Amino acid sequence: MKTTLKTALAGLATCLAFTPALAEDIKVGLLLPYSGVYASLGQDIDDGFALALETYGAETGATFDLIREDTEVSPPVGLAKTRKLVLQDKVDVMAGIVSSGVLGAVRDMVHGSKVPLIVANAGNDEATGESCSPYVVRLSFSNGQVNRPMGQWMFDQGITKVYTLAPDYAAGHQMIDAFAEAFTAAGGEIVGQEYTPFRKTQDFGPYLTKAQASGAEAVFVFYAGGEAISFVKQYDSFGLKTDLPLYGSGFLTSSLYVNAQGPAAEGVITALHYVPTIDSVENKDFVAAFTEKTGRIPSEYAVHGYDSARALIEATKTGASDRETIAAALGKVSFTGPRGPLSIDPATNNLIQLIYVYETVAGETGLTQKVLATLPAQQDPVNGCVLK
Ligand code: PHB
Repeated sequence: MKTTLKTALAGLATCLAFTPALAEDIKVGLLLPYSGVYASLGQDIDDGFALALETYGAETGATFDLIREDTEVSPPVGLAKTRKLVLQDKVDVMAGIVSSGVLGAVRDMVHGSKVPLIVANAGNDEATGESCSPYVVRLSFSNGQVNRPMGQWMFDQGITKVYTLAPDYAAGHQMIDAFAEAFTAAGGEIVGQEYTPFRKTQDFGPYLTKAQASGAEAVFVFYAGGEAISFVKQYDSFGLKTDLPLYGSGFLTSSLYVNAQGPAAEGVITALHYVPTIDSVENKDFVAAFTEKTGRIPSEYAVHGYDSARALIEATKTGASDRETIAAALGKVSFTGPRGPLSIDPATNNLIQLIYVYETVAGETGLTQKVLATLPAQQDPVNGCVLK
């Protein structure tokens, strides 16, 4: 009897050892600005994330428990919320972070605790450069990646002298630096540049006067959120658009707020890794599903959320279910999503993706994005990253 039981137990143990893992419950911490100037960006990311879980979640045996924390746009608040998710909630993985400043503040906590973080917006180059980590994987973009290709493209359009403007914080500097480096390498000249106090500049007039007097043939800027709305409107009301065409990083005329800019945004040419008018089956399906769910056209932020959750699902499909295995699997993810084919660069954990140059034009039901060029997939330089 004893022997039989023993044998049966041994048999059961062997059986269990070879049985695939049962469905896992994965705890996901979402770190997003649900309040403050970037709240609408955070909401789009959250809605995109939830949509991908609904669409692809069933492909994996896992279930996902979401714990949402509001980072505001504050590095200390972001860090406190990350600590809570890691230490108190004991999440398996985190996703989110909109501001480069918040990402900079939480990086060491993420790296030290070995809890993987899927970056769903913040573009600071160093997060996948000198401060890279095997636990930080980016499913959004890097500041350099989005702006660098515009340097050559604008020069190829015959523009040789440019004036630049951006808010005076990490993202503003990195976006302009990448553009300026590529534009000058192509043969162009930056005839002047200015950084405006972040979240404090209401009147861009003095800067626009300088740009007008600079001898530039075009202006290239980065602004996002509320600042993008007021900048584009003021640029138009200064009457500059015809003689001094406005170019920029595509966040300037994001589909999230372009209709708040109205006709002032017409004719502005920018570059980004996603626009809702990309002509592909994957994108059309996504736009239809997101619009049905939320009543809004998805922005690049919605796609960051969607692709972040999709990456998590792809990782769990390989059997990953805890912090270490999820981190390792995330670094190997690749799929074709709404923005096109994308993969994670094994050297940096940043993604490799196409960049679209687009013009904001009047459409049948408001402003829309006319794609002027699809630039080859961009892979950032390693920038001192050693993944360990
Ligand atoms: C950033 O801080 O990295 C950032 C914020 C908003 C954007 C893009 C980048 O639209």
